[in-house]
Amino acid sequence: MTYLTVYTDGEAPERLLATVDPDEIATELKGIDVRLRHWRVAEDLPSGASQDEILKAYREEVDRVVAEEGYTFVDVAQLHPDGSADWPERAAGARRKFLAEHTHDDDEVRFFVEGSGIFYLHTEGRIHAVLCEAGDLLSVPRNTTHWFDMGTEPAFTAIRFFHDDDGWVGDFTGNPIAERIPDFDTITAGRPVA
Ligand SMILES: [Fe+2]
Repeated sequence: MTYLTVYTDGEAPERLLATVDPDEIATELKGIDVRLRHWRVAEDLPSGASQDEILKAYREEVDRVVAEEGYTFVDVAQLHPDGSADWPERAAGARRKFLAEHTHDDDEVRFFVEGSGIFYLHTEGRIHAVLCEAGDLLSVPRNTTHWFDMGTEPAFTAIRFFHDDDGWVGDFTGNPIAERIPDFDTITAGRPVA
């Protein structure tokens, strides 16, 4: 269930909104030019499905988005606890990568096949924290200041869309705002139960 919380961006951020209402979420995000769409979730995908199996299961939807928006490269990012000795370090490293505020010169477009993550969109003095779950396709326009938190125990599979495959770089703003806004673990612990 998608969950949106909105905060002020001052020294002591205040929560202005918390909602799971799809229409309210759509209206809020439309107001900041961020698109959230919902696809049916493929139910026949085995856990541990390969990238090819995942892309095949969503072929129609992926092809439509690629045709409409001109993406040239699509892949699947997956991260799950695997019980290995180096998991805590890998999980922390992956989380840290885009946990500070940054921008990209390409759109950031993600479809959650399963699991979850929070996109924090910083615009016009507000932070929109969008908790995405299976079935959510979020499009963050290029140059939008944002960060992403996958939590201390990352677990997700996401299809990613790019306009070029030259690598995915973040331009970090140096603004420490992400440290003042509730993180993934805090927000997911406090959200309404479905
Ligand atoms: Fe990003």
